[in-house]
Amino acid sequence: MRDAEPRAIYLRDYQVPDFLIDKTHLHFALHPQTTRVTSELKIRRNPEAEQSDRELVLHGQEIDLQSVSINGKQLNASEYRVDSESLTVFNVPESFTFSTVGFISPEQNTSLEGLYKSKTMYCTQCEAEGFRKITYYLDRPDVLSEFTTTVVANKAEYPVLLSNGNPVKFGDLDDDTHFVTWHDPFRKPAYLFALVAGDLAVLEDSFTTMSGREVTLKIFVEDKDIDKCDHAMTSLKNSMRWDEEVYGREYDLDIFMIVAVDDFNMGAMENKGLNIFNTSCVLAKPETTTDFGFQRVESVVAHEYFHNWSGNRVTCRDWFQLSLKEGFTVFRDSEFSADMGSRTVKRVEEVKLLRTMQFAEDAGPMAHPVQPASFIEISNFYTLTVYEKGAEVVRMLHTLLGPEQFRKGSDIYFARHDGGAATINDFVAAMEEASGRDLKNFMSWYSQAGTPVLKVSDQFDSVAQTYTLTFHQSCPSTPEASESEKSPYVIPMAMGLVTSAGPIALQFDAAGGHFDASRPTHAVLELTKSEESITFSGVSERPVPSLLRNFSSPVRLQFNYDRDQLVTLITKDDDGFNRWDASQQLAVAVIHDAQSQLSVGAGIDIDARLLTAFGALLQDRYIDAAMVAHMLSLPSEVFLAEIAEVAAVDDIHKARSLVKKTIAKSLIAELSDRFASLPSAVHYSATAEQIAVRSLKNICLEYLVATGESEWLQAAFSQFTEANNMTDQMAALTCLVHSDAAAAEPMAAAALAAFYQRWQAEALVVNQWFSVQATAPQPNTLAKVRTLMEHEAFTLKNPNKVRGLIGAFANNNPVNFHQADGQGYGLLSEVVIALNTSNPQMAARMLAPLTRWKKYDANRQGLMRAELQKIGKVESLSKDVFEVISKSLDF
Ligand code: TRP
Ligand code: ZN
Repeated sequence: MRDAEPRAIYLRDYQVPDFLIDKTHLHFALHPQTTRVTSELKIRRNPEAEQSDRELVLHGQEIDLQSVSINGKQLNASEYRVDSESLTVFNVPESFTFSTVGFISPEQNTSLEGLYKSKTMYCTQCEAEGFRKITYYLDRPDVLSEFTTTVVANKAEYPVLLSNGNPVKFGDLDDDTHFVTWHDPFRKPAYLFALVAGDLAVLEDSFTTMSGREVTLKIFVEDKDIDKCDHAMTSLKNSMRWDEEVYGREYDLDIFMIVAVDDFNMGAMENKGLNIFNTSCVLAKPETTTDFGFQRVESVVAHEYFHNWSGNRVTCRDWFQLSLKEGFTVFRDSEFSADMGSRTVKRVEEVKLLRTMQFAEDAGPMAHPVQPASFIEISNFYTLTVYEKGAEVVRMLHTLLGPEQFRKGSDIYFARHDGGAATINDFVAAMEEASGRDLKNFMSWYSQAGTPVLKVSDQFDSVAQTYTLTFHQSCPSTPEASESEKSPYVIPMAMGLVTSAGPIALQFDAAGGHFDASRPTHAVLELTKSEESITFSGVSERPVPSLLRNFSSPVRLQFNYDRDQLVTLITKDDDGFNRWDASQQLAVAVIHDAQSQLSVGAGIDIDARLLTAFGALLQDRYIDAAMVAHMLSLPSEVFLAEIAEVAAVDDIHKARSLVKKTIAKSLIAELSDRFASLPSAVHYSATAEQIAVRSLKNICLEYLVATGESEWLQAAFSQFTEANNMTDQMAALTCLVHSDAAAAEPMAAAALAAFYQRWQAEALVVNQWFSVQATAPQPNTLAKVRTLMEHEAFTLKNPNKVRGLIGAFANNNPVNFHQADGQGYGLLSEVVIALNTSNPQMAARMLAPLTRWKKYDANRQGLMRAELQKIGKVESLSKDVFEVISKSLDF
């Protein structure tokens, strides 16, 4: 594959650094091809180092090194050695000032890590190991330093010069340049360093902290986007208040800045005092941004802000601890969003993501524990497992300890590790201390990969009036451990028992769990063994168990519900989340019926219980409209594929579409009544109430259009034309573009053309225009995607465009990506090979759908593996892609 295969590094090999860097002074003379970076580091030997006589080895890549000096004296070539990844200095004193001068080329940096140019702006991305592309350094998170940074650039082109902390000095220089010096009083690892230079507009505001300090807030964007910053600013202030109220965490600098850039590999980055965001996670206004987009901005702004404590003030010792900051911070932003909007709706949305995407990751070749034991390229571990499952693990701690003890544990953790670099064990130890509990057995959640399977069976004794639930847990084999090697998990099982009269009060031996006296129909059991039972007494009729309420643990739950039982849960459970979950299970059963009926060439007939339940939901004016919308939404094709033994993409697509069309025809009266009853031309605001209404209205429209009747195609077209917000416009456009009715075709074409015409200047809107076409189910979609790759608005250089077109096609259009001739796979591997050279992180991420080859039939498996092999033979394969390819082929 390559000359020397990249090697894995292991958590068990961790050693403290041999040297420490107390102070870091950086000087940047910005230039597109030859930016000069001068560094001056106050270095000393670490008194805790394993050996006291080691050479100084600094990380560094792609730097044109000009000079190296110690205490002001330039070293000659025999005193140090440089290779493609490091600089080794042979003899260094106990403590010294170390300087280097090097040149880097931001303009040629297409990897979007290190210092690069995005449009006319300079910006940085240093997490995880990008700082080493800027200057030679100890680029590891347990080396914390106090940074002072001077940036010099042409004043007219780059009036705004930013770095972390506070501006301490600025002025004009002789030529056309000017400079600003920034000082960050908080010690930090290099991955939190940031620099920005550009001609940027700014939205300014302020926030008064709990102790009465005034903090200046600034959001920097391109001038044309300055009218799209209000939502981010409001979200920022809400986040700052929330973190004070819920976690007692106050902001620490006098200024907090956000900068929006167009070319960015991920959502955003929490650099100290200077967060850098993908434009897609900052900019929002009703005309151009969907409700989903507004919510994404709110949650990402919160996420990055919360990192100021969970990540920056207390950082990670090494990258195996990544979930220490990411899992905890996702949990924090998730609770924040739940508090800002509707808690149950937020939970449904995150569980959908987890079950569809994280479960798939956990079942594939890249499966890894929340705390991985090894990696080849850390960029490949910014995953749904580290983030979303990591957040579920923190959520389980919160459930087990309760809010008070959890908060006490978080206080202990922040106080004990403030200014330092911590481990996941340190976090759990703080929770143990706060609660007095032994959490040793809980650690399986961090150390074992794979999604546990929880099989539940029940037994009702009508004479004794007892009801017994038996739980059996196991975890399938994953690359690092076989099923038999795995220890049981501590599983918090939130549950209730529901009869035809509703939920009943629970009587059981409370040793097996706990009880909240204010809700006698609800308990949280703590399962710890591979098999265990619990018996409830005083049960006079066979109840339906409402299990894993609120998705209290990230497991695959298996209980053989019959459909009447699901209907009981849908109609009688007092747990909103489980009402939704039951409706999904019933819909899955109905789609499976349709698959069997279609396979024997029969017409489909839909279980009347689903129609009754959906009909009742459409008429229910009391349940939150957003929940009704979620309950009416059929499980996605991607989810149906994930839960199948072998993902029969064509059958799934046919069955699901036909079920949708049949529901629409059967419930046309209810759907059109509810559709008509919901207001459309309100003054837009992104409140939970309005978002709920739009989501219900648009799911009704989706069903109505699925009838294929021209009246409803017309209705969609009118909505497309008349909508005063992107949510309604995009929903209508999607209905038309995804419709299989012949009459929809010219309307879809007209709408797509009009849409592009109107929004071509708005890059984020154009990305959605790519996505809606890339996810169309029609058989000519692959050809359309190829055509769109040649479109003036498309470029492989911009990750948002790659995700919008190629990512949407490969991840959210199973029937076309997996077309039987393998052309979808071929398209993806072309893109991956192109990106391997320009942007390895993106290349490896885009590969994910091909790594899932085991899910498909033998023919597709062969075609998918052939593409993986083809990519594996590419010369100069990046570490990123190498790791994914080699693990996928070995699976
Ligand atoms: N720490 C960032 C976050 O989750 C993640 C991130 C942003 C990132 N940009 C990156 C990770 C580039 C790897 C590479 O908030
Ligand atoms: Zn994060």
